[in-house]
Amino acid sequence: MHWLELQGLGLTEGATRILADIDLKLGAGRTALLGPNGAGKSTLLRLMHGLLRPSTGTVSWPNPLSQAMVFQRPVMLRATVLANIEYGLSLRGVPAGARRRKADEALARVGLPELVHRQARKLSGGEQQRVALARAWALEPEVLFLDEPTASLDPASSREVERIIGEIAAGGTKIVMTTHNLGQAHRIAEEVIYLEGGRLMEQTPVEEFFRQPSTSAARLFIQDELGS
Ligand SMILES: Nc1ncnc2c1ncn2[C@@H]1O[C@H](COP(=O)(O)OP(=O)(O)OP(=O)(O)O)[C@@H](O)[C@H]1O
Ligand SMILES: [Mg+2]
Repeated sequence: MHWLELQGLGLTEGATRILADIDLKLGAGRTALLGPNGAGKSTLLRLMHGLLRPSTGTVSWPNPLSQAMVFQRPVMLRATVLANIEYGLSLRGVPAGARRRKADEALARVGLPELVHRQARKLSGGEQQRVALARAWALEPEVLFLDEPTASLDPASSREVERIIGEIAAGGTKIVMTTHNLGQAHRIAEEVIYLEGGRLMEQTPVEEFFRQPSTSAARLFIQDELGS
């Protein structure tokens, strides 16, 4: 069973072709989107999540699925951590009485229950990233899009965020994430989608991708990233 299908997907802005001819089916589990800067990874996530409208082709979800997205730089409301988490819940129609409990649970799961009354924008980058994950997790999405969730984090915080992503996935949530950290892709993902120049080069199970990618583009990318 697939959860998401892209057919002939393309996006053009003015004279710039950002994505072209993307045909892709995603099933359950954990998918990493890899590729060099400017390949189109963030744009593809936004198209999948419905934040952008494609110029050509279609994005179809066989079942209506609840989705959430966490951006590379978390977008926090100028309000407390609690208000940030409760806001998303209120938009989804969660009754006031249940919001506080769900927010507390989500904060506990990311290990930050003591930050509940702090101003979200005054937290460190790593703390905000974890609050953003808690805010998404509280929505109990069936699909979670993550755009470079650990890009600005130190190694300890990155591992903590990886652990949280693993727990979210273990609860049955489909994960689609971008990362420039190949070790992280290897640890988290079951399959890799490799993009370059706005085109889908391959979709490969993770072990095979790192051992023997099917395109020379991906092979060169892996060699470059590993510095060999
Ligand atoms: N609204 C836009 N108008 C014009 N060009 C855009 C627009 N949005 C993105 N682009 C261009 O599309 C290309 C893909 O951008 P995107 O942010 O998706 O890349 P990425 O793979 O996420 O890169 P990175 O690894 O640096 O995050 C880039 O060349 C970018 O400059
Ligand atoms: Mg990006």
